[in-house]
Amino acid sequence: MYESWEQLKNDCLKCTACPLAETRNNLVFGVGNENAEVMFVGEGPGYNEDMQGEPFVGRGGQLLDKYLTYIDLDRHKNIYIANMVKCRPPENRDPKDAELDVCIEWLRHQTRLIHPKIIVCLGRISAQRLISKDFRVTKEHGVFYDKGGILFMGTFHPAALLRNPNNKPEALEDFLALKKKITEVCSHTYDL
Ligand code: URA
Ligand code: SF4
Repeated sequence: MYESWEQLKNDCLKCTACPLAETRNNLVFGVGNENAEVMFVGEGPGYNEDMQGEPFVGRGGQLLDKYLTYIDLDRHKNIYIANMVKCRPPENRDPKDAELDVCIEWLRHQTRLIHPKIIVCLGRISAQRLISKDFRVTKEHGVFYDKGGILFMGTFHPAALLRNPNNKPEALEDFLALKKKITEVCSHTYDL
């Protein structure tokens, strides 16, 4: 069990617990405020993230930042963003179950230390692991589920929105629902 963020990050950056360690350029631990009340969880690093060591910095990331700005959230200020796997799967394939099983321990450590009130799952991979194994983004996006005192909500992955812009209005509604939920259950997100 970790007591300090620095200790956790140091150990995670050295992780070789699954085969993705062999092909990574940079491990992508996460970005944001470790005192945030709201956490976002994506799938795993892509090409740009692996090169820069930060989550969601490609085209999908730019779209995510736009949605965040729309509801007064800022990746460097009042939220935390992490991924299900910290190292890039080759050719951006889906992370394998075995890789997710191992890497989720780092996310658990991060979640225990951050203590978020709300976790937003970006896309199917994180929603199916963190909310329910048969989660369907198209059907269940924008719905908040209380699990052990944390509110979980799944929404469209930004990369999926780039491929399928028809879903953008629904994604925007999810972010508006998130803003409303933040004003209900969070005490300092909009003061950070
Ligand atoms: N897609 C993800 O799921 N996470 C990232 O960090 C980048 C792209
Ligand atoms: Fe470790 Fe996760 Fe990277 Fe695998 S993906 S090496 S478990 S940090």
